[in-house]
Amino acid sequence: MGDIQIPKNKNILHSSIFNKTLRSWQGLQCDITTRNLMYPVFIVDEDDSLQPISSMPGISRFGLNRLKEHLSSLVDKGLQSVLLFGVINNAFKDERGTHATSDKNPVLRAVLKLRSWFPDLIIACDVCLCAYTSHGHCGILEKDGTINNAASIKRLAEVSIAYAKAGAHIVAPSDMMDGRIAAIKQLLRENEFGNKVAVLSYTAKFASNLYGPFRDASKSAPAFGDRKCYQLPIESTGLALRAAARDIEEGADMLMVKPVLIYMDIVKQLKSRYPEYPMFVYQVSGEYAMIHYAAKAGAIDLRLVLTEILASLRRSGADVIITYFTLRY
Ligand code: PBG
Ligand code: ZN
Repeated sequence: MGDIQIPKNKNILHSSIFNKTLRSWQGLQCDITTRNLMYPVFIVDEDDSLQPISSMPGISRFGLNRLKEHLSSLVDKGLQSVLLFGVINNAFKDERGTHATSDKNPVLRAVLKLRSWFPDLIIACDVCLCAYTSHGHCGILEKDGTINNAASIKRLAEVSIAYAKAGAHIVAPSDMMDGRIAAIKQLLRENEFGNKVAVLSYTAKFASNLYGPFRDASKSAPAFGDRKCYQLPIESTGLALRAAARDIEEGADMLMVKPVLIYMDIVKQLKSRYPEYPMFVYQVSGEYAMIHYAAKAGAIDLRLVLTEILASLRRSGADVIITYFTLRY
């Protein structure tokens, strides 16, 4: 041998990865078990119907009478938690989202049933007004179309209590109004739910362009304008950190970043700042569509790429991943 140096022992990497088990030890914190997945479910106010959602191939809206069958096989496979969204096809929608708290809200009717069918399943309810308001915005509006924050958080707290009374374990406000966590926590305490219902805050929810298929699925697109005055600017790290500090101060039990694939820098920062809090991430409808269509076109292998993506989410600090792909796990 001439001048070539044998590498020092510590610089030899292959000795750590020549075997499958050895390789797996390099990423134990990236394990995906059923505890790490939460499944979003659309419940429509037509009890017998099962409506495939064209913008989200493979995902459907379920009427109450179709839910048990759909979820049974998933629960049998270990599903531990669901996130419920209501879809209103029949009831009227008004300025304050009256039917978010009436018996026309299919989620309110579903919770009790789900609890009796699946006693070990954790039930989270998305708290928002956009699927119930005539204008499709997530809060209550002033005459000029801007948000009336005080009226909005009062209403959102009422909606949260309705879900708590129906039996939800978790309420998850996705509206992004200021002070909503405090308002919800206060009303939960006043109604004796203070220690019985957790608040999962959509903390860093960006005004993303990846929610389109979801708005179609839940019939919740804004009738005018956009959500940029309440959801976070897509470029902003500062507001995401401030939103987390605010929500923690107000008593949030768990935090969330949404969307996730192109916001993993935020996940990493929030998890390292607040390691005491379970970090949820939401792989949203547009992300689902991107992955689905790339696989459908033959460009990627769905299962292999999904495994890689889920591992990367865990690596960046996600504890629980809310994903429509839970269906395939
Ligand atoms: C409603 C809500 C949205 C999502 C969850 N809750 C859409 C929005 O804010 O317009 C997005 C979920 C997804 O795209 O999968 N507040
Ligand atoms: Zn909303």
